[in-house]
Amino acid sequence: MTVIKVNKEDLLLRDCAVEELTEYYKALSYKKGRDMTYSVRTYGCQLNESDSEKLCGMLESVGLKESPSDEAADVIVFNTCAIRENAEDRLFGNLGMVKSDRISDKDMIVAVCGCMTMMSSNVAKIQKSFPYVDLVFDPQHLHLFPVYLRDAIRNRKQLVNISAEDYIVDDSLVPISRKRKFRALVPIMYGCNNFCTYCVVPYARGRERSRDLSEIVYELEELASKGYKEVMLLGQNVNSYKSADGKNFLHVLEAAASIKGFSRVRFMSSHPKDISSGIVDMMASSPVIETHLHLPLQSGSDAVLKRMNRPYNRDDFMKTAMYFREKVPNGALSTDIIVGFPGETEEDFIRTLEVVKECAFDSAFTFQYSKRPGTKAASMEDQIPQDIVTDRFQRLLEVQNDLAYRSNLSKVGKTEQILIEGQSSTAPDILTGRTMSNHLVNFTIPDELKDPSKTSDDYEGMLCEVEFTHARPYSVDGKMVKIDD
Ligand code: 5AD
Ligand code: SF4
Repeated sequence: MTVIKVNKEDLLLRDCAVEELTEYYKALSYKKGRDMTYSVRTYGCQLNESDSEKLCGMLESVGLKESPSDEAADVIVFNTCAIRENAEDRLFGNLGMVKSDRISDKDMIVAVCGCMTMMSSNVAKIQKSFPYVDLVFDPQHLHLFPVYLRDAIRNRKQLVNISAEDYIVDDSLVPISRKRKFRALVPIMYGCNNFCTYCVVPYARGRERSRDLSEIVYELEELASKGYKEVMLLGQNVNSYKSADGKNFLHVLEAAASIKGFSRVRFMSSHPKDISSGIVDMMASSPVIETHLHLPLQSGSDAVLKRMNRPYNRDDFMKTAMYFREKVPNGALSTDIIVGFPGETEEDFIRTLEVVKECAFDSAFTFQYSKRPGTKAASMEDQIPQDIVTDRFQRLLEVQNDLAYRSNLSKVGKTEQILIEGQSSTAPDILTGRTMSNHLVNFTIPDELKDPSKTSDDYEGMLCEVEFTHARPYSVDGKMVKIDD
């Protein structure tokens, strides 16, 4: 499969479409006597969040404004996830909910993009059961969204544009509307070559391709100069990064950490096969690289790992985890685990529980295996009955919840620096933020530190010291003791 760098003709085509759409929506806005709006609904991982920021950027570039509510907008884009069946079910449910609005408003556009569109069964279902969807396009061609949108408006019949070409597009060529004023999501590589037997990502996102380091550094420097405090380096296997001129992930991490202005450099998601001691050493010594490592285990059984096509065993994983614990003693280790993979025995599951306990993960994303059409595991014998999967899932949750609580408990009495993310969703006078190790913290500001001229929003992106007073299952409570900037 060829990896194509975006060409000039495509960009020219996009510029023409942007011009035409701008005129079109200006006229429509005049006719309707109101602003034209969009709503981008995102499912799944942070790479999808990042893609959505680009979709929003492109929609804003033609004059649309983000819809103030989740209700109807003039352009609705569903940026989908295919990793598990329930994400797909949710999409189909939500598509059904926009039907009446779309049918009564002939000017409205409903678009579907993201990983689900790379599975032909999903596209066939949209064509058959959701004829009012105007546009379906694949994630590789996100940068051409304005062209597809223009064509869908011109032709007024369902437009499906799916191709398996692997593109790499310099992100500076796509307008980005960043959703957090302190955190910038920066993809450094796209795609996956690993073909874990349960996973659709390699089919949906194509082969691995890395951005040039110089492009990444240019973007990072620009972000730092705009005042972003936190940068999140993203990739399906972020540490498989390998640029055409031979640079690896350590080079990117080093470059990001050396740019003045960032307080936090994070990265997601790591593959255990690619975590070198060099990466952990850099986490241990750098004052800005987050002391949090997300290391997906998937299973603690060597036999299951082998059938999953994960090229490491339990001992390899434990070695990496223990090296991290030794070098980064105040750090946090998180993971992904799947229960109920085909053929998983009770003994296999017990091994997973053992590794979870030995690693004492600070947090974990736990999943029930979901059969994905087209993957190798879907045709494996010995699919596990749902009642056994549910039982194992509950037992794993119990163990992990206890570990997460203990991790939060270990913080109580300490004082650490927090990057403030904003107002807590539960109480207006409580702020929320994260430690360097990614622990979630909710905290109050004592009267003597309160600045009456500031609203909660003004604190977003600021650094402060918080003393931890109380542990909860998924967060820590505390009180601010000092503002750092
Ligand atoms: N079923 C359940 N979980 C899955 N994941 C990936 N594919 C599947 C599947 N078919 C999980 C893995 C991965 C995370 C992003 O999603 O744990 O690390
Ligand atoms: Fe999926 Fe495995 Fe690639 Fe992760 S490494 S995206 S789990 S195939």
